[in-house]
Amino acid sequence: FRCLMSSILITGGSGYIGSHTVVALISAGYNPVIVDNLSNSKITVLDRIETITGKRPPFYQIDLRDRAALDVVFQTHSISAAIHFGGLKAVGESVAEPLRYYENNIESTLSLCFVMAARGVKRLVFSSSATVYGDPHTVPIREDFPLAPANPYGRTKLMIEQILQDLYAADPAWQIALLRYFNPVGAHPSGLIGEDPGGHPNNLMPYISQVAVGRRERLSVFGSDYPTTDGTGVRDYIHVMDLAEGHLAALRYMEKAESLSPQRQEYKLNLSSPDSLSFPRRRESIPLIVNLGTGRGYSVLEMVSAFEKVSGKTIPWQITDRRPGDIAACYADAIRAKDLLGWTASRTLTDMCADTWRWQSQNPAGYP
Ligand code: NAD
Ligand code: WQD
Repeated sequence: FRCLMSSILITGGSGYIGSHTVVALISAGYNPVIVDNLSNSKITVLDRIETITGKRPPFYQIDLRDRAALDVVFQTHSISAAIHFGGLKAVGESVAEPLRYYENNIESTLSLCFVMAARGVKRLVFSSSATVYGDPHTVPIREDFPLAPANPYGRTKLMIEQILQDLYAADPAWQIALLRYFNPVGAHPSGLIGEDPGGHPNNLMPYISQVAVGRRERLSVFGSDYPTTDGTGVRDYIHVMDLAEGHLAALRYMEKAESLSPQRQEYKLNLSSPDSLSFPRRRESIPLIVNLGTGRGYSVLEMVSAFEKVSGKTIPWQITDRRPGDIAACYADAIRAKDLLGWTASRTLTDMCADTWRWQSQNPAGYP
């Protein structure tokens, strides 16, 4: 059996960001195919995706490191591009178990790229993270800022970026986008899919929403002596549906780049410098690297009060010590995404809280 319909491979597609991107892709007329080993997600997400979109994407429970199994997916479907979400993402866990993180995240990416190259599929969008910037000297953070991740998880992201840059340099047929996400929050407005951290949530929004729904007693606010407006940490929270649409924009950017003939591409690139018109420049020497954030930051306490307002619940909180490795403030310079991809985040903080709350209150224990 070979499905002739052109498809997009979504690794990690049953996870939080992947599942929302699958919904956005289906809504835009694409055919996503999901590969996930379910190490951090539940199969029930597929029912929810089907309820929202009316379509059930093909799903393969495969570990990405299993090249032979992955190759069968490429034999079965006519894949035109991959969006690579699959990976482990808990910072604390990566400090405790660095080998598992390096093995899983790096090997998965190598395996995916080997299979893609062998099958001639050379369009790839990679889930990178603002964590690659470490503690920035200034904010907002531009894509050309120094890269200095502060933990093994972040270093897997940087190493993968470097591997993909080398691949891009070696073979001009590759189209690669490295998308650096800031802090994804929120859920699909249906409340049917959302973030479902197993066990104790590491991140702020899931923690707040679990307090609101009565699963946790109170929020610990990690430090109140940062050099920020109210002393608590400031982050660039971005609605997960905006983030999902950012992937669509990156995909379309790459599709469009390919549809222009090479000469035409060179010509377009060089319009601003007439001298170079007769000497077309080589293609860009680095892949597309783009921040996906809103460009503005909110403090922990601003998040708490926005969530209280939307949910009508009181969120008890107490100040505790700083969390080791945390930084004061982190938010994106989002200009490049707008200029290159024509994408900006449009959902508000109220949307982020309302959609998180709809998901959490309808699914107090997460996915069944
Ligand atoms: P998630 O854990 O919900 O999704 C990742 C998915 O990958 C999970 O479903 C997991 O089962 C799967 N997976 C992990 N290892 C695999 C393997 N070896 N083979 C097959 N599947 C595997 O996480 P998410 O929040 O949706 O994040 C998606 C991607 O975005 C990750 O790469 C993450 O590092 C990156 N990212 C996330 C954030 C965030 O705050 N959520 C921020 C920046 C970047
Ligand atoms: C946000 C703010 C905390 C929990 C992490 C990863 C990063 C990226 C996104 C993947 C900070 C404060 C939190 C709590 C709190 N993931 N906080 N009490 O640390 O910005 O980023 O997730 O790439 O790599 O490091 O997000 O949600 O954990 O924290 O006060 O119980 O909320 O100190 O200021 P962070 P977060």
